[in-house]
Amino acid sequence: MIDESYSVRQAEVLISMRMVDLILKKRRGGELSRDELEWMIGGYVRGEIPDYQFSAFLMAVCFVGCTARETADLTMIMATSGGTLDLSPIPGIKVDKHSTGGVADTTTLIVAPMVAALGLPVVKMSGRGLGHSGGTLDKLESIPGVDTAVSTEEFLDLASENGIAVVGQSADLVPADKLIYALRDVTGTVDSIPLIASSVMSKKIAAGCDAIVLDVKYGSGAFMQNEEDASELAEAMVQIGSNVGRETVAVITDMNQPLGRAIGNALEVEEAVDALSGRVPYDDPLMSVCFTLAKKMIQLGMPGTKDEEAESMLLEVLANGSAKGKLKTLVDSLGGNGEGVIKCTELPRARERVPIYAKSQGYIASMDCEALGRAALLLGAGRATKADVIDPAVGIMMCSRVGDMVYEGDVLAELHVNDGTNAETAKELVREAIIIGGEYPKMSPLIFGVVDINSIALREATDNEEAPEAAEIGESPQYAEADALARELGLMDA
Ligand code: URA
Ligand code: CA
Repeated sequence: MIDESYSVRQAEVLISMRMVDLILKKRRGGELSRDELEWMIGGYVRGEIPDYQFSAFLMAVCFVGCTARETADLTMIMATSGGTLDLSPIPGIKVDKHSTGGVADTTTLIVAPMVAALGLPVVKMSGRGLGHSGGTLDKLESIPGVDTAVSTEEFLDLASENGIAVVGQSADLVPADKLIYALRDVTGTVDSIPLIASSVMSKKIAAGCDAIVLDVKYGSGAFMQNEEDASELAEAMVQIGSNVGRETVAVITDMNQPLGRAIGNALEVEEAVDALSGRVPYDDPLMSVCFTLAKKMIQLGMPGTKDEEAESMLLEVLANGSAKGKLKTLVDSLGGNGEGVIKCTELPRARERVPIYAKSQGYIASMDCEALGRAALLLGAGRATKADVIDPAVGIMMCSRVGDMVYEGDVLAELHVNDGTNAETAKELVREAIIIGGEYPKMSPLIFGVVDINSIALREATDNEEAPEAAEIGESPQYAEADALARELGLMDA
């Protein structure tokens, strides 16, 4: 007779020993096989591998990274860790859109109705806010009556009937990402390229779309702080999409300041309504990014469409009101009053507005965009812990952008406040986040670049050609000597 408790304990010991080996292998720079990754993720999802061991593995990935093969395997193991959606009953090429997370990033609520108004099906499962960055679901749910928790059947029905469905991710999709994301959030392991790439792409792949447009943010309000890291993340995701037969295009966009003016859920819905009603100029940064993303979606969904053609199609659905009509349809289909929303009579408003004034004259030199997101969160627009309840009405309206000339006493931003508890801290955060300087600042490009499979091939080809030259410029001994001399003479910072 087998002693069951003994064999369970023995199995536990074996699992934990093997996990230690794999953590060490990764930590020492080794490459894990697909079987090893499958064993580890499966074990974690089933609760056999404890959080502390999986956290150690995640931290090793943050420091050591993953090979392209490991990242692709990680993605597919996560994508198939639960159910996957079959969107084939919905006719046409289904193009998904995803942002890596930003502040005042209202693009989905503008892009989805514009694209759907052109007859391209928009069938999207969206997420909630993470940390300082907002989420489309929370924005939609700031509309009274809206419920984004719909069953998979309802979701497919809405998509077929209306050509637009934006809902919450169903519970059985990508359980591995849900668990791993929650662990990353509390272990300082969010901003790793292979971890973000596999997290995003596993969800997109499981959600069944044919093609994907990614908005990869860079800057002080993004997970990727600079253009180089964002480009690397974009390439990793485009590569994964292409490997699994989902054509993927990534647009790298600026998040060194809030994209739109509104930070906060109902405020952002209102800004989306304004944009769809033609009240936001086309050269506004929010609109420029929306147009760029929408054009890419059109070109993936209607291959052969030229840039100018896509642009005039978009201008037309804005001018004739059909894009705004699609937002109304979306809101109605989720239980809200669409008419009230597009007239902006149906949105909750905060009790009090608190202006933040400029203390000196000068140019807005820079903004700490993450701090602005955190200030909105403090007012109740986001969650500090999973259990927090969002106040749909509160947030921040930005009245200034980097490069603006301001005078003492000008309003830089306006807090929309209901509960004053954290208002003082939020006010201080916003004041400190907006830096005023004497000189016109160097502006970061709004659209840094577009990455697709061809641009990756081109980059790889030029990298190979230029490799020897680059070494000559950057690393040759005579340059190092010249630099040392320049430092000695005080011509260069030490
Ligand atoms: N968004 C995701 O879905 N996952 C990440 O890891 C980061 C941003
Ligand atoms: Ca429901």
